[in-house]
Amino acid sequence: MEHLNIVNHPLIQHKLTLMRRRETPTAIFRQLLKEISMLLAYEGTRDLELTSRQIETPLMEMEAPALAGKKLALISILRAGNGLLDGVLELVPSARVGYIGLFRDETTLQAVEYYFKVPTELEDRLVIAVDPMLATGNSVIAALDRLKEAGAQRIRFLCLLAAPEGVDKLRHCHPDVPVFTAALDERLNEKGYILPGLGDAGDRLYGTK
Ligand code: URA
Repeated sequence: MEHLNIVNHPLIQHKLTLMRRRETPTAIFRQLLKEISMLLAYEGTRDLELTSRQIETPLMEMEAPALAGKKLALISILRAGNGLLDGVLELVPSARVGYIGLFRDETTLQAVEYYFKVPTELEDRLVIAVDPMLATGNSVIAALDRLKEAGAQRIRFLCLLAAPEGVDKLRHCHPDVPVFTAALDERLNEKGYILPGLGDAGDRLYGTK
């Protein structure tokens, strides 16, 4: 699997354009993020291992495919991660869910942790961490450090937008974690925002400022 996977399906690209527009209202923004996250999760889980089980259709018995192994662990990096989590959970409703609370120190741009609660037996699960914006990479790198400390061995990261600076840093710190994103944007501005981007994902999701 590639380190960076840009999922450029036409439906995702169209929905992303709507999300980027300044005038897109909160409710539509949230709905679009949910729809895109389902499509990203579809790609990000394409190689899940299957086993087979004996079932009975109304007509006959058959050996039918079913997901193998323990339930997935979805980890939302608060708070904007919850916007992606909702869509992924819709696709994989039986997944276990964890939350990592990090805020960005606006002067150093470093991630500071304030909450950590994740499912048990992370070492036996495929772990999918979600956060819409891969900007400096500091938050996701801190989150992945903590997930590995907690036992996670197989991790993927799903985001909506990525900046080249964040992708490079993440590849350097966690080369074993594939990234799935809808777009690779141009660069970061001096405040660590992605350009052209879509602004502050958390504020746009929840209508805060
Ligand atoms: N976080 C955001 O919400 N937006 C950015 O552009 C960068 C980080």
